[in-house]
Amino acid sequence: MLKVGLVGVGGISGAHIPAWEEMENAELVALCDIRPERMEKYSGKRCYTDFDEMLANEELDILDICLPTYLHADFAVRAMEKGINVITEKPISLKEEDVDRVYSTAEKNGVKFMVAQVLRFWPEYELLKEIYDSKRYGKLLSGTMIRLGGIPKWSWDGWMTDEKRSGLVPFDLHIHDLDFMVYAFGAPEVMYQFRSKRPDQDYISLCYNFGDFSINSEASWYATSYPFAAEFRFQFEDAVVTNEKGKMIIYRRDDTVIDLSQEATGDTGSINLPKSDAYANELIYFADCVENNKPVDKVKPEELSCVLKILNNL
Ligand SMILES: NC(=O)c1ccc[n+]([C@@H]2O[C@H](COP(=O)([O-])OP(=O)(O)OC[C@H]3O[C@@H](n4cnc5c(N)ncnc54)[C@H](O)[C@@H]3O)[C@@H](O)[C@H]2O)c1
Repeated sequence: MLKVGLVGVGGISGAHIPAWEEMENAELVALCDIRPERMEKYSGKRCYTDFDEMLANEELDILDICLPTYLHADFAVRAMEKGINVITEKPISLKEEDVDRVYSTAEKNGVKFMVAQVLRFWPEYELLKEIYDSKRYGKLLSGTMIRLGGIPKWSWDGWMTDEKRSGLVPFDLHIHDLDFMVYAFGAPEVMYQFRSKRPDQDYISLCYNFGDFSINSEASWYATSYPFAAEFRFQFEDAVVTNEKGKMIIYRRDDTVIDLSQEATGDTGSINLPKSDAYANELIYFADCVENNKPVDKVKPEELSCVLKILNNL
């Protein structure tokens, strides 16, 4: 049984903790947060307000880092130097040089490391990649990816709206779509970019060139309570593949429409969209790599570096 500790019991930990609790080969034994009240609702865990104390008292196989972005790399290094395997929330860091620092620490200490880039484990996005790789609808011609919402007001100490600690919309929100593009389609060139950044809101619009096709992308923290939307629309030679308004729908050239949000009935063109929780999928994947000593090759350091290089040049 893998012993797991989690540090940073804030917003996103609410997706990680239940996933660890469901896992059969792992036990979440310890939590750490500087705000003790954040840990009160989780019974049966050893709780710490000091990270070094957690590291000193626990014999962890895995540390799950759900801290604010600017702390990810340092906390990962501290844990890996104690021989603990680490999975951290995205992004690995705001600084490209941290990719090397973190991965070389993992190598030196013989432990595994992964950044939880969740779209790589998200059924709709996995299926999009499979459609691209298999060319079942021909070549990709164009794409659109959006991630829009209102400015986050809930983060601890307002760190999310502090550019030095979060990197704002590019590093907090757009990174999901850019990371997926680099993973699925390779390194792009930025053809066009526009940003409207103010103290109370942030918006970017970009066009990436992949040679044979381009992808337009938008991300926002609007100053209003605009409803969150994470969507895509990809034009292939023989189909338009969409994930909009919570539904994945494929419009084929023969005018048939496959609605993958419905239970599979009739002809779906043997396309299967598993109903699964992407946050659980990424943690299960990492736990399996640790337990069975498999390489963590779903998220590669060169892809993370490529993303950080692009974001740091916007
Ligand atoms: N993958 C996703 O879809 C997704 C979604 C949201 C957030 N995230 C990422 O998760 C990370 C956390 O975001 P969040 O929304 O949960 O933030 P949050 O502010 O809600 O939570 C951060 C927590 O860390 C605690 N903390 C701060 N400093 C600490 C320290 N030194 N030691 C121990 N605890 C400390 C805070 O008390 C807080 O509870 C961010 O890096 C963000 O990019 C990812």
